Amino acid sequence: MKILIFPDVATASAETARRILATLAAQPCAVLGLATGGTMKPVYEALRTALGQSPATFTSFNLDEYVGLPSTHPQSYAYYMKTQLFDAVALPSAQAHLPRGDAPDPAAEATRYEAAIAAAGGIDLQLLGLGANGHIGFNEPTSSLASRTRIKTLTHKTVTDNARYFGPDEVVPRLAITMGIGTILDSRAILLLATGAGKRDAVARMIEGSISAACPATALQLHANVTVLIDEAAAANLKLRDYYETVHPGGADEIYT
Ligand code: PGA
Repeated sequence: MKILIFPDVATASAETARRILATLAAQPCAVLGLATGGTMKPVYEALRTALGQSPATFTSFNLDEYVGLPSTHPQSYAYYMKTQLFDAVALPSAQAHLPRGDAPDPAAEATRYEAAIAAAGGIDLQLLGLGANGHIGFNEPTSSLASRTRIKTLTHKTVTDNARYFGPDEVVPRLAITMGIGTILDSRAILLLATGAGKRDAVARMIEGSISAACPATALQLHANVTVLIDEAAAANLKLRDYYETVHPGGADEIYT
């Protein structure tokens, strides 16, 4: 793993966006794996500014979607992507993929989605956030490290964390369709962005903990091309922080990993 520690959220997010743009410059029709969540908003803001109404030539596959929400629901990840990125960069809808939350048969939808990723040639660059509980996508703790796209039950903590975004009369989804950990590990390159003190325990476990389904992000230790971008607050619990900062001062990338 390449560990890049930046002074603040703005610089970590800007570098994440710069790396995505560099991939698109080298490979305009790249297949991107995309993530949602608050952490990604500054990344998408930078992409909107840089890409404009081109229209976009990349293909994207999002990590996950809530079961039961149509793409028009303001809390669906389809809606998040439409408003945060897709509309602004004029990404043709045929190139923008998310699991369909309102599919009549969610299990069949998960199988279809996994096959669609393979049919597109796999993911060139996967963007990941990190849950405070160590989840990647909606692969909650104890997810199989070999899992493929499937339905997952969300933990009580994830459901209650999400409840604040839903109206008082709305049912907060308890199920999601998510790429599996095995699906994510098949990506050719991975960028994980985690910022803020709330992520410092998960970041330390992911980088320096033993590989275990109890912390799904530890599976990334098995991937040969992972870059972790974090701010100083998220780096606070790393035991080998001095080492990472010596190799990559201020998040600078060197040729050595
Ligand atoms: P967040 O979510 O960016 O909203 O913290 C990250 C995640 O749960 O993957």
